[in-house]
Amino acid sequence: MDVYVRQGNILEVETDALVVNLFKGVTRPGGATGAVDKALDHAISELIRQGDLDGSLGQVAVLYPRGAIPAKRVLIVGLGEAEKFDLEAARRAAAAAAKKARALKAQSLTTIVHGAGVGGLDPRDAAQAVVEGTLLALYTFPKYQQKAEETPSLPSSLTIVEFDAAKVPALEEGARVGRIVAESVAFTRNLVMEPPNIATPAELARRAREMAEEVGLHVEVLTDPQLEELGMGLILGVGQGSANRPHLVVLEHNRGREDLPTVVLVGKGITFDTGGISLKRSQDMWRMKHDMAGAAAVLGAMRAIALLDLPLHVVSLTPFVENMPDGRAYRPADVLRNVNGKTVEVINTDAEGRLILADALGYAARYTPDAVVDLATLTGSQGIALGDLAAALFSNDDTLAQELMAVAPRVGERVWRMPLWDEYKEALRSDVAEVKNAGSRTGSLPNSAKFLEHFTEGYPWAHLDIASLVWVDTPKDYRPKGATGYGVRLLVEWLRTRSA
Ligand code: BES
Ligand code: MN
Ligand code: ZN
Repeated sequence: MDVYVRQGNILEVETDALVVNLFKGVTRPGGATGAVDKALDHAISELIRQGDLDGSLGQVAVLYPRGAIPAKRVLIVGLGEAEKFDLEAARRAAAAAAKKARALKAQSLTTIVHGAGVGGLDPRDAAQAVVEGTLLALYTFPKYQQKAEETPSLPSSLTIVEFDAAKVPALEEGARVGRIVAESVAFTRNLVMEPPNIATPAELARRAREMAEEVGLHVEVLTDPQLEELGMGLILGVGQGSANRPHLVVLEHNRGREDLPTVVLVGKGITFDTGGISLKRSQDMWRMKHDMAGAAAVLGAMRAIALLDLPLHVVSLTPFVENMPDGRAYRPADVLRNVNGKTVEVINTDAEGRLILADALGYAARYTPDAVVDLATLTGSQGIALGDLAAALFSNDDTLAQELMAVAPRVGERVWRMPLWDEYKEALRSDVAEVKNAGSRTGSLPNSAKFLEHFTEGYPWAHLDIASLVWVDTPKDYRPKGATGYGVRLLVEWLRTRSA
């Protein structure tokens, strides 16, 4: 979709769908909406008076100007209560309007920026949110569907119109960032949507390399010989049962710029999680194609970081591994050694994510990072604890945890901090190795984080268990059914704030 910002009068634009807005409880619209209302002989005020439109967030009413203004249709989108209005509301309002425009088969979509006027948002941020909400809501994955009716025709352009010329540069900047971010989320969603027979470790490494070369990231892909040479016994152990060999993708933004702060992003990239010898039940096992969503989010974030050219040295470590049962597969009771020589007793081969992360976290130390953040669909208990509303955040560093908690509401990707008390270690005590990879069901969520902490090497670190956030079964605001791309915007916003 093309995105434009234009200075002009909305009463003069030719478009298939013109989007204006309304806060809840407003009976006499002002601003741009007021101007359209007036031009349409107060048809918007009439909608309100008749009770057909009350400004609830995401509500959309449609009017046909019939020549009164050049726009073919006017979409009035509700912004909800003015006191509760924020960037996330702007994103959701834009999403609702975009989906309505698509349902009406509008090709050109023109909008004002929600919240940049009375809403009190920073115009740059508001424009970013409108572009993100629109592009994210219209995401589709038609790749494996041939029939035209299964792939809805999408609006082909989004134009932001602003009357005040002084605001236009800020809106242009916001639109540019919004587009980079939304397209990076789509990149992540595409990887997660791919079926596991296609998205093998080798193929994901190829896609990562292709993206890296496109946006100018340094790329290195480690396969069996290098993994063996380095002693990445946990990645190799988990991957032992699959003919699709492990690939560790290392991307680097601003490589060699040792003057810049260094951040390492780590993502769990299990391309399919059968559970291995500790086999999962067959019910819903197909979902485990999304067990690489942490790694996919990290790659999407790296794409945006490169395109935004953030003044930071950022490294990503994304191990791609398939967890399969096989005659050669690793087994419960095996003892494996990570890249730094730390040993693990495997109790359950289905607790595989923490194993591959333990190698990546160990390897991260070589970059002497100022911060390390990992994203992983690590446990079922994360969703039991928090539902699908927030990722579980664990951190050994209060400042880092605060930074992530502060940016989360701005992007609408909630996180909730959980404890890393030392006593959780007891559940992971092994009789033969330094730690075991699983305890009992009790404390499954904090235990998994405590396991990871054992493999960190003194750097500030945060772990985000995103298991319940990476996939939705029913469409929600700007998240169509399927992969959500959770984490991309959180990481990008965190690093944008950190580099500002
Ligand atoms: N990939 C799963 C976690 C998961 C479950 C993600 C459901 C998304 C939805 C992970 O590898 C796993 O199997 N975890 C086990 C750990 C247990 C064996 C200690 C779990 O949470 O049950
Ligand atoms: Mn598992
Ligand atoms: Zn898993």
